[in-house]
Amino acid sequence: MIRVNEHYDKLQASYLFSDIAKRVTTHQETHPEADIIRLGIGDVTRALPGACIRAFHQGVDEMADDASFRGYGPEQGYDFLREAIAREDFQTRGADIAPDEIFVSDGAKCDTANFQELFSSDIKIAIPDPVYPVYLDTNVMAGRTGTFDSGRYQGICYMDCTKENNFIPELPKEPVDLIYLCFPNNPTGTTITKPELKRWVDYAKETNALILFDAAYEAFIRDDDLPRSIYEIEGAKEVAVEFRSYSKTAGFTGTRCAYTVVPKACRVFDQKGNPTPLHPLWNRRQCTKFNGVSYPVQKAAEAVYSPEGKAQVRELADYYLGNAKIIRTAMDTLGFACVGGENSPYIWIDGNGRDSWEFFDLLLNKAGVVCTPGAGFGRCGQGYIRISAFNSLENVETAMTRMKEAIK
Ligand code: MLT
Repeated sequence: MIRVNEHYDKLQASYLFSDIAKRVTTHQETHPEADIIRLGIGDVTRALPGACIRAFHQGVDEMADDASFRGYGPEQGYDFLREAIAREDFQTRGADIAPDEIFVSDGAKCDTANFQELFSSDIKIAIPDPVYPVYLDTNVMAGRTGTFDSGRYQGICYMDCTKENNFIPELPKEPVDLIYLCFPNNPTGTTITKPELKRWVDYAKETNALILFDAAYEAFIRDDDLPRSIYEIEGAKEVAVEFRSYSKTAGFTGTRCAYTVVPKACRVFDQKGNPTPLHPLWNRRQCTKFNGVSYPVQKAAEAVYSPEGKAQVRELADYYLGNAKIIRTAMDTLGFACVGGENSPYIWIDGNGRDSWEFFDLLLNKAGVVCTPGAGFGRCGQGYIRISAFNSLENVETAMTRMKEAIK
């Protein structure tokens, strides 16, 4: 008898962003005249940078000629891209990461989802609340939690991020083995300082835990004192894996390219408590389950590091940061407290006592604006909404005008 993975029964009905998409489709069916502005899911709207497009085309042309055609590539990514990443994203910032510690992939979502399979099923997970739902749901699927009860899965160590702690998680009060952190944060848009991040690295060292650090929004950091990588913190190479993405950085949400850094020094422990390196495990996993990112896409990603590419990518992020500023200013005018939107494309807005989904419905019905209800990111997100800065300047301005009308 073919039996189902019953851990799936514990999951909430559907993935947050699919749920929102369904509600928007229903709204459109009943209001065909509605002009909807999407500031919900963080999906970029501007074209790929010119440097990437040119390299992408060249890569495709190479595939059209027997002499330069390529079949299966290395599962870990082509050397040209791994070398550019190590040099430009890490070594220039004093983080000593080598090319063979980088694993190129088709997305930080898949990598953050898949990475947990390297660990024993009975480890204790620490997850911020609110949180990007992928970290939590994939551990539920893997059977690391009990049932869902009063807005929370049993067995998880939730780290509340509230206005009282400026939405920065505090060190867990119970022993944990695997810690998920994301900075600049999705969904709250908050950032972490080097001293704050060092506390986490020290904690992981002291307690033999591991940090999964999601830095998918690093390109939005404009404050030079903020860490762009956890490897800017001394000792992090032993206790942290980092995830990066070209999705938001360079407009690759539809093109798909990302990478994960697993330093050779990073250790996990066997049943007897002996340290064992993590790098060969992820390498083994990728070789077995993944066949690499297409050659033209990796050429396009490499172009991010050309002088022209760097300037274009910065301009792209600046554009969205400009939108974020407009959103923040509008929220101030409307009297909503908010965080994020500086060094981050997300603005986390306190609904002044409104329920998250009610606020979502109000904005959809009265302003034709799609946001993301904070409650979808966890119990501590109740009462908040997230607005994303990923859209055109014109649409963001229109959305803010409509919101002011709808709420006044
Ligand atoms: C978000 O809106 O939180 C992200 O776009 C989702 C993702 O990157 O998968």
